Amino acid sequence: MLKIKVNSLKPGVTLGKDLFSYDSTLLLPKGTIITKEHLDSFRVRNIDDVFIMESKAIVKSGKPFEDVYSDSLDVVRSFMVEAKLGKTLDFNEISDITGLLLEQVFEANDLFRQMRLMKEKDDYLFTHSVNVALLCILMGRWLKCDRETLKELGQAGLLHDIGKIFIEDNILNKPDKLTDIEFEEVKKHTLQGYNLLSQYEWISTSVANAALMHHERADGSGYPMGTKGYSKNLCVSVVAVADVYDAVTSDRTYSSKRSPYTAAEILWQESFGKLNPKISKLFYDKIANFYIGNEVILSNDEKGIVIYVDPSQPTRPIVMVGEKFYNLATDRSITIIEVID
Ligand SMILES: [Fe+2]
Repeated sequence: MLKIKVNSLKPGVTLGKDLFSYDSTLLLPKGTIITKEHLDSFRVRNIDDVFIMESKAIVKSGKPFEDVYSDSLDVVRSFMVEAKLGKTLDFNEISDITGLLLEQVFEANDLFRQMRLMKEKDDYLFTHSVNVALLCILMGRWLKCDRETLKELGQAGLLHDIGKIFIEDNILNKPDKLTDIEFEEVKKHTLQGYNLLSQYEWISTSVANAALMHHERADGSGYPMGTKGYSKNLCVSVVAVADVYDAVTSDRTYSSKRSPYTAAEILWQESFGKLNPKISKLFYDKIANFYIGNEVILSNDEKGIVIYVDPSQPTRPIVMVGEKFYNLATDRSITIIEVID
């Protein structure tokens, strides 16, 4: 348990001790998930610090997330443009940026929220590459991977879609549904990425395979080869899950971004026969629990707070709206369409 300055706190942390006002009135019991509204009320009441349960509840000092994210975008943009022009990929550039992203994953306690705030900063291909890299490192951390594996996962995320630089812009950024012929072109990014990456000795086979295989699905419905069965390669499985999550939660030329709970629901569905179930479950469980205490907008236009996640149905939490409770596990007609940061 830590005593933390209110100004350093982010919503979503858990109160470690009962909180009393100066006249000894109980304000909040121990175990309360702190929301943005709680933080505002602390400031109004001149409460400077509170005890919280988590040891990593604050972002440590160092380079701000936004700066690292922008630097990463610059590097990704430049090496993708250079690769398109036939120039050599620079090991140091990729390695340095992977190291910085790794640092952010270890320092930021609310990575999902920070990433959401960074969307629309640049072309989708570049933001998607950085986001998938961050999510891959984060999953590797949850899986307790060693540092070398975390770096490899970061590189796999950063480079998985590099083959898209060879696709014509009018197809890549087409606002409408692709024709069959256009989709066949898009599918080629997997093999083109693999061919590019496998030229480099310093890029591991796992990273190149992640570029090749991240759209394969265990039931054989994926591409480019329609390979059946789960990949034994960690980079492939992790990139596939991170790729789906970021694609669903991002604005695309042909679709608007959807909520993290929608993404979690899709990962839950795809964990039956398509994506590696162990990796998908780890991810949707974490997302569902991350947003406990968060304000959300429901499909019936009501605004509420996620208050409980049933471990057996993590993507369908209980949401409190005023004095009403919606159990989304039983009330299937209602969904969470937006989380409010
Ligand atoms: Fe892809």
